[in-house]
Amino acid sequence: QTGAFTYDPGFTSTASCQSKLTYIDGDEGVLLHRGYPIGELAEQSSFMEVCYLLLNGELPDQGELDSFSRTITRHTMVHEQLAQFFRGFRRDAHPMAIMCGVVGALSAFYHDSTDIHDPQQRMIASHRLIAKMPTIAAMAYKYSVGQPFLYPDNSLSYTGNFLRMTFGVPAEPYVVNPAVEKAMDRIFILHADHEQNASTSTVRLAGSSGANPFACIAAGIACLWGPAHGGANEAALNMLHEIGTPERIPEFIARAKDKNDPFRLMGFGHRVYKNYDPRATVMQKTVREVFEALNVQDPLFETALRLEEIALNDPYFVEKKLFPNVDFYSGVILSAIGFPTSMFTVLFALARTVGWVAQWNEMITDPDQKIGRPRQLYTGPTQRSYIPVGQR
Ligand code: SDX
Repeated sequence: QTGAFTYDPGFTSTASCQSKLTYIDGDEGVLLHRGYPIGELAEQSSFMEVCYLLLNGELPDQGELDSFSRTITRHTMVHEQLAQFFRGFRRDAHPMAIMCGVVGALSAFYHDSTDIHDPQQRMIASHRLIAKMPTIAAMAYKYSVGQPFLYPDNSLSYTGNFLRMTFGVPAEPYVVNPAVEKAMDRIFILHADHEQNASTSTVRLAGSSGANPFACIAAGIACLWGPAHGGANEAALNMLHEIGTPERIPEFIARAKDKNDPFRLMGFGHRVYKNYDPRATVMQKTVREVFEALNVQDPLFETALRLEEIALNDPYFVEKKLFPNVDFYSGVILSAIGFPTSMFTVLFALARTVGWVAQWNEMITDPDQKIGRPRQLYTGPTQRSYIPVGQR
């Protein structure tokens, strides 16, 4: 009861939306994209196929896939002046800070695809965003390590192109490792879309005002950066480094249970999954495949496996239904491939761009779409009269 107002404690937000893109059953650990299970897509398809599926609703035949891949490839280059943006950042800027700035600036370069009412412009903007994100992400990395930018090589696959722009140098040819390319492509698939998560809802809310798609995706990137969301993959690996050896796991498990300690097990828990995140299952399997292909031994993976085993058998985590999520193992793989932790969320944003774009298109073409306006529950003071400062 706040003054004259009373409010219904049963108040629930009416903020929700309809979508045909992704279905999640958190209790059963089910994730479907347009009806296809994430495990089958991750094991059998490619990220370009999943992009086509999310945007068009059906898996492409070979001709459709080749044509779509060619279209995306044609948009991989960025405007030459965009490179100037990077030079304005300090070298030690977090790559996610650079992504927020550079992607938001795209609307200053691609005026011919900002009219949200023109289906052709919407499609071109969608393709540009999916195609240019790897180029911009690679540029953010190159800038942070003081190496020259590499232009896209469109003879390579979407993912191979990204790996070369990231790890290649002008001084010598870069050979894409097929096992790394396959693992990276699978990681992109696992991050492509995830229903109405915080960053996707941000993109939809920004889009509902009529903002151009580049600005909306930049808003999504900003939201994804948070450690409770996409920033968790970076935080999870930093946590594993802090734990170090399996012998220290009990200390961190105790901290995660301590309500007076803000520490949480990063990469554990989820707003929706109260069962195992099906993406984490694939991710754990992919760690083993990458380690084998690269002949890598990383004690952090053993620590991660041991932490998961202990947590899954701890009554506190069992009762609160806390399982590893997509972010728990991804850092171990990305680190083995050669990415610094600061790039982990950039890779999440790169992959999630197709989901954001598909959700934005679905929202913008909904004839009943109105500007978003989440409800609030007012719990402040009731109306009262102003008191001049001398009488307070
Ligand atoms: C992503 O929404 C999406 O789909 C997101 C995502 C996507 O693809 O877009 O899946 C990507 O963001 C995955 C989540 C990555 N974040 C992390 O791994 C950060 C660590 N996880 C937590 O911060 C947390 O689990 C959240 C933010 C993910 C969910 O938080 P909630 O909604 O508070 O979780 P909950 O309500 O299920 O929590 C139940 C209880 C709470 O304790 P009580 O209030 O009941 O006493 O479990 C506790 C929480 O405090 N809890 C944890 C915990 N997560 C929840 N305790 C310790 N460690 C954790 N990780």
